Amino acid sequence: MFKTIEWTNEGVRMIDQTRLPAEEVYVTCKDAAEVANAIKRMVIRGAPAIGVAAAMGAALAVSRSSAPDMERLRQDFEAGAQCISQTRPTAVNLFWAIQRMRAEFDRSMAADGSDEDRIRRAKERLVAEARQVLEEDIAANRAIGRHGAALLGSSATVLTHCNAGALATGGYGTALGVIRAAVGAGKKLRVFADETRPFLQGARLTAWELASDGVPVTLITDSMAGHFMKQGALDAAIVGADRIAANGDVANKIGTYSVAVLARENRVPFYVAAPLSTVDLSLASGDQIPIEERSPEEVTHLAGVSIAPGNVEARHPAFDVTPHRYVTAIITERGVARAPYTESLRALTQ
Ligand code: MRU
Repeated sequence: MFKTIEWTNEGVRMIDQTRLPAEEVYVTCKDAAEVANAIKRMVIRGAPAIGVAAAMGAALAVSRSSAPDMERLRQDFEAGAQCISQTRPTAVNLFWAIQRMRAEFDRSMAADGSDEDRIRRAKERLVAEARQVLEEDIAANRAIGRHGAALLGSSATVLTHCNAGALATGGYGTALGVIRAAVGAGKKLRVFADETRPFLQGARLTAWELASDGVPVTLITDSMAGHFMKQGALDAAIVGADRIAANGDVANKIGTYSVAVLARENRVPFYVAAPLSTVDLSLASGDQIPIEERSPEEVTHLAGVSIAPGNVEARHPAFDVTPHRYVTAIITERGVARAPYTESLRALTQ
């Protein structure tokens, strides 16, 4: 299977998600600025994958530095962290990963020894920490998969929105991790994938990932989801998340809110699968989650071809917030949280 992202001697290697499904090509980022650019351009995307990329970008900022002393090494770390922090605001995993790398740097800074020794150790430790972030993410997704698979029947058709698969994480996936685990446990699953306008993560990435794995997948346009729910064709909806507030409000790909409301109307359970690195207990509710506004051109154009009059105004909020009352359960690596989320999420993070 492809590797979404990995640390290599040449730099941070990632599959270029802007080229899928037509071409499976890889890019190697050699410094933090290149990683930041890859996140911004969505060469790598999906909250946990962005977190891994941010950690590896911070590791590059230190490991490739020629700073002669720890103070200047810290400046190089902070410059890299700053550059990466300015790419995409919604997925909290990016900021979580930078903070984790900063804590590792602080430990190296506080260690005994000459500057030369501390610089060498800081470089080793930051690279090791970034690789650890990747490994832990994959392990978390496998655990999410196990917890989530138990919620599905022995035969089920599941709707998903956007791509919360191996491509969106270190590997295995969150929402698609649940589906992989269920299939692995012998359940008969079919996935309905929303195409996910305007960036088409569902059509380009989810359909590609599932088809490559041999999981039956049916591609639909976003506006068809309600129709299929009303027909009784869908047993559950499972999505990922970019940031979950303390009260269980969920920021995820634009269109997720509509899926959740339709699911409630049609009595379809609506599950969110996400690692605890996506939970932001510092925000009381989803109203405080920053929503990225992307270029309107992604709405007015499809694959570079204009689909609207040249002078029309367009908007492109890349995420929306689903109020917690629509969320049946949040599946994490430590177990399944249910309402009241303020209590259940806090308990899982302790
Ligand atoms: O804009 P994207 O493609 O980065 O948005 C991705 C999503 O919204 C995913 O559903 C979310 O990050 C969870 S990925 C496990």
